[in-house]
Amino acid sequence: MSNFRTIKGTHDLLPNERMIWRKVEHSIHSIMQQNGYGEIRTPAFENTELFVRGIGDETDIVTKEMYSWIDQGGNNLALKPELTAPVVRAYLQHQMGNTNPLHRLYYFDALFRRERPQKGRQRQFYQFGAEAIGSPNPEQDAEMISLAYNIYKGFNIQNMMVRLNSIGSAEIMPAYLDNLRHSIKSIEHELCKICQARIEKNALRLFDCKNPRCQELLDEHALLIFESISDEDHAHFKVITQILDEMGIPYSHDNKLVRGLDYYSHTTFEITSTILGAQDALCGGGRYNGLIEQLGGKPTPAVGFAAGVERLILAIGKQNNMVQPVDIYLVHMSQELIPTAARIANDLRKNCGKTVVLETLRRSMKAQMREAGRCGATTTLILGIEEFAENKIIIKDMATGNQEKIVLSEIIQFVNNTP
Ligand code: HAM
Repeated sequence: MSNFRTIKGTHDLLPNERMIWRKVEHSIHSIMQQNGYGEIRTPAFENTELFVRGIGDETDIVTKEMYSWIDQGGNNLALKPELTAPVVRAYLQHQMGNTNPLHRLYYFDALFRRERPQKGRQRQFYQFGAEAIGSPNPEQDAEMISLAYNIYKGFNIQNMMVRLNSIGSAEIMPAYLDNLRHSIKSIEHELCKICQARIEKNALRLFDCKNPRCQELLDEHALLIFESISDEDHAHFKVITQILDEMGIPYSHDNKLVRGLDYYSHTTFEITSTILGAQDALCGGGRYNGLIEQLGGKPTPAVGFAAGVERLILAIGKQNNMVQPVDIYLVHMSQELIPTAARIANDLRKNCGKTVVLETLRRSMKAQMREAGRCGATTTLILGIEEFAENKIIIKDMATGNQEKIVLSEIIQFVNNTP
């Protein structure tokens, strides 16, 4: 066996897994397009500065998780750890705002974060997501939340919870952060070292800390941002909840949900499912009205979400028992029959739209029949010397075990008429 292995936190997708991935990919593309979203694909790496400026220099992603390096030309580059900043970069680079006041974009792509790998958390992982750039209105936020929710509903994901909050506009942030610092003054020294360092640099990131003791202390003492948002922002939040109520989408207001990236303003949301275990976030998103300006564009409102594909697939819970559905396994009994068997397999694929697998290992009849059973074929065709001489082939229904001989020239018609 070779000593080469996948890098920690990355994984191969073998044919059985790719089956379900392809179905998921296909569904996502069609749902996004049905909802009026156009696909965007950005490069695997960008200037590191895009993420530092976009996501925030005190976020976990930027401080601990980015794969970045200086290339031979002295450029500081990073494998993309998220897609909102690259999508905004592309939106600005291609001056998309000039062609239309609203752009609905979606993606399905690989991302890279140097996190501690565990179930549902990889170092290379895939996301699908959507960004609507141009509308400031709450119906756009509600569209985004319902789009994500309905995708999961379409996959019949159970035990879902939509958590929703508003962190208000960027203008309230400096005053709120001062008040937050003030509210935790008495317990500051009890927080972990990372939290202590964050109090001055970016106190909102305190809420991202995974340390349970820190969260307990914040629960008891910290002033929550929802209490500080403006009347206008309250009204925005209210309309979102009204639309969700109207659509019958259940949600709960989580007033500690600030999300771990600095570009958010106003709405933040996550969809979780208890069936995922510790890494229970199916997706997360929110409004980011300041990011376009932050990256050099005109002030432009925007909202989006991104969802982990591995987590969706874990939630679908089928990837381990998903076998390649073979319709027909074609068994043949002698070398001379191989060209005929190959032609029959080809004709069936072309004319019946079936998945047909032809034996190519020249195994014994018994071994071929075992293989037909193993790959879950619903029908086995057996081309024997005797049958071939009669211009016939045996067709066996694997569920009932019934078999009959069919004239070779009628096989396509027969298969097409079999449900
Ligand atoms: P995020 O919360 O960092 O948001 O990631 C979104 C989703 O990606 C998570 O809810 C999770 O399902 C999945 N995910 C994140 N990290 C990993 C990992 N290491 N392994 C597997 N899955 C992971 C964003 O990325 C924002 N760009 C979302 C957004 C779009 N906000 C506005 N627009």
